[in-house]
Amino acid sequence: MSGDLSVTALYTAQVAVWAGLPCSELLGTVDGKRVFDVTNAALGVARLARPDLPALRYTLLHRQLMIDHLLGELTGSVVELAAGLSRRGAANCRDRSYTEIDLPVVSAKKRELLERTDEGRAVLERLTLIAGDATELDLPASDIVIAEGLVMYLDAAARQRLFAHVRAPRFIFDVVPLEEEPPPGRIGRLLERGMKRFTGGRSFERDLRTRDQVRDELHAAGFADVEAIAASDIAREWQLPHAEQKTTMVVFSASRGRRA
Ligand SMILES: C[S@@+](CC[C@H](N)C(=O)[O-])C[C@H]1O[C@@H](n2cnc3c(N)ncnc32)[C@H](O)[C@@H]1O
Repeated sequence: MSGDLSVTALYTAQVAVWAGLPCSELLGTVDGKRVFDVTNAALGVARLARPDLPALRYTLLHRQLMIDHLLGELTGSVVELAAGLSRRGAANCRDRSYTEIDLPVVSAKKRELLERTDEGRAVLERLTLIAGDATELDLPASDIVIAEGLVMYLDAAARQRLFAHVRAPRFIFDVVPLEEEPPPGRIGRLLERGMKRFTGGRSFERDLRTRDQVRDELHAAGFADVEAIAASDIAREWQLPHAEQKTTMVVFSASRGRRA
């Protein structure tokens, strides 16, 4: 798993292992641990110049748990796009219908990892894994669509196509508008170049400036009600671990009908 965004799935899965999240052990890999350690070491050097910035693992942990929190308030079936090696489907498929979509190489890797253990094989009996391009496939009907760690890689046209493509009543995803990101600085730009080497040139898109822009695009795609939730506003109230870390993360929860 390298040469495209699938390598990023190794890092995010390892964040869950590091934090001890339920079912994360089913998806831990030696490669994931290596990517996690090397990335953290490189970011640790970068943070010598910006000690005010929280480490990436806290930001991604908050992202995972914010989406878990929103999901926990809802009932109904889930389709998760670009699910990678996330343990969310494994942790939830006992209680609700759960379908995950990712590119063939990642989907096959996930199946292989789950096949390793009895518990993983039991998950595979309940969790539906679909291999394909989530922006192109006809998405199965569901009450909720989740896309974690995907929208930031899409340019404006692809993002708007995705928003129109999601027909579910509720859509939950993360993206941090540019004006809320700390400026990357010289070291950040160097790291981005490093990331591109491992992802075949893929990196973050930089055309999304404000939350209002996201709202407008979601409204244009037929979502009537859009809530933007920042980690810094809810970390303590939602009892996120490491709430003292001032992570920059915004999760959007959009619904097609107005809530009562
Ligand atoms: C940053 S990882 C996030 C994985 C997972 N959602 C998580 O948070 O742990 C990005 C994922 O997007 C997947 N991906 C990228 N483009 C995709 C597409 N067009 N269709 C489906 N999956 C895609 C990659 O394979 C990778 O697994």
